[in-house]
Amino acid sequence: MGKTIIVSNRLPLQVSLRNEEIEVEQSVGGLATGLKSIHDEGNSIWIGWSGITEEELNPELSQKINKELRAAKCDAVHLNQDEIDKFYLGFSNKSLWPLFHYFMEYAEFDSSEWEAYKAVNQKFADKVLEKVEDGDRIWIHDYQLMLVPKMIRDKNPDVAIGFFLHIPFPSYEIFRTFPWREELLKGMLGADLIGFHTYDYERHFMSSVKRILNLEVKYSAIKYRDKTVRVSSFPMGIDFDKFYNAALRHKNQDFGNKSSMLKRLEDHIETSEEAQLIISIDRMDYTKGIPNRIKAFEHFLNKYPQFKEKVHLIMLTVPSRSNVPQYQLLKRETDELVGQINGKFSTVNWTPIWYFYRSMPFENLIDLYVSSDVALINPLRDGMNLVAKEFVASRVNQDGVLVLSEMAGAAKEMSEALLINPSNFEQIADTLKLALEMPVEEQKSRMNILQKRLKFHSVEKWAEDFLIALDDTRNKNSLFEYAPDKKNITAKTSGNGAYKKTSFAE
Ligand code: F6P
Repeated sequence: MGKTIIVSNRLPLQVSLRNEEIEVEQSVGGLATGLKSIHDEGNSIWIGWSGITEEELNPELSQKINKELRAAKCDAVHLNQDEIDKFYLGFSNKSLWPLFHYFMEYAEFDSSEWEAYKAVNQKFADKVLEKVEDGDRIWIHDYQLMLVPKMIRDKNPDVAIGFFLHIPFPSYEIFRTFPWREELLKGMLGADLIGFHTYDYERHFMSSVKRILNLEVKYSAIKYRDKTVRVSSFPMGIDFDKFYNAALRHKNQDFGNKSSMLKRLEDHIETSEEAQLIISIDRMDYTKGIPNRIKAFEHFLNKYPQFKEKVHLIMLTVPSRSNVPQYQLLKRETDELVGQINGKFSTVNWTPIWYFYRSMPFENLIDLYVSSDVALINPLRDGMNLVAKEFVASRVNQDGVLVLSEMAGAAKEMSEALLINPSNFEQIADTLKLALEMPVEEQKSRMNILQKRLKFHSVEKWAEDFLIALDDTRNKNSLFEYAPDKKNITAKTSGNGAYKKTSFAE
């Protein structure tokens, strides 16, 4: 078996320049964090953009960066400022991202950005073709690189290619509005195996392929050119043990070793028996429902005033794509809403929302996860949402309640959470009350089931399932079929199940 070539827009390391010296940081975001543990342990290389522009590079810096990246088994595709503007900030995040998340009114279609998208996809494909050897498998990730599978396939018809989409695939009625819809679908069909987080996304994709390309689609197989492309759902997990063990460490550490943040949080909880913390963590993105959350929290405080001066909403929003106008508007709206609510409700002893706009190191995230009572994760639309899973994995005492939007892919496999519609403020307010008052026994029984499932369906298992399915697809004699767990037996769409091998008839 050869190596696995992971390909994604971002590398797990992001390089930036400060005072003409390079700084290397871990990438934020689900894909990078999720795949990192697999990459660290396996026989793989990771191809992606380093985070720095070509204009910033000089031979000496390039040498230093390459050395850092080589040590992390990474290889950079360098992008210039124009490419970043048109391919990343432009086409990926002003066209594909809003459209695929059902924000049609935000989607802009600019043909020069489409050209840049194609050119940068070609750059990634060329880098992969330079590195690929016989027996390797190529695993391409996400919406920034949807044309890469075909670009590689055109040059190397025999290589094993998998593609995984980390965001929702929208319904046909949305997707059909996209000007370059045929090219995008054909780009993905260069892969042997195409994976999605949920069966719904898979179904939407199949429907678009059938209606736009008029291809023969049978269950989870598509006849395309001279081969069969397999399509399946693989709900992504997290590195459960990493979060669980870190949380255990934080809980058990001596007072002196605790971070100042944890000390302050614990101190706060100890000063009032009735103090409770609701936490939310996400990138500053309009898909995450941040204004809705603040408005729903205001409604909660109005409807249930008994929680005033007792409950805090801690909102950690991580800066993201801040050069895109919609994100700047969202930031402004969020700042204003937080200011309004805090201005309206604060007392000398109490500020209802603690708002952080920055990224936080892993250890502080764990502090937040372990010291809160409720997590409120309410995206308007989300491919998966790994924060919900991280919160659950960090609850070592099995207490705490997850309030989760039914619009997140994660909701399909976390039915023991309290599920909410992120646009129904009445329901969110009632559910928050329910969560804050839930008896510990019930918290534990829900958390226990969630943890067992998450531990089993870890990110390692997700990657293993995908790669086994890719190998099997290549052998063309077996099919991976979704087997729902016992609890969610009703439909293929619900529950996080194992992929079992069955016989495949062409
Ligand atoms: O959710 C899709 C995704 O690509 C994630 O993998 C990641 O969390 C996020 O978007 C990162 O966005 P960006 O690379 O634009 O910061």
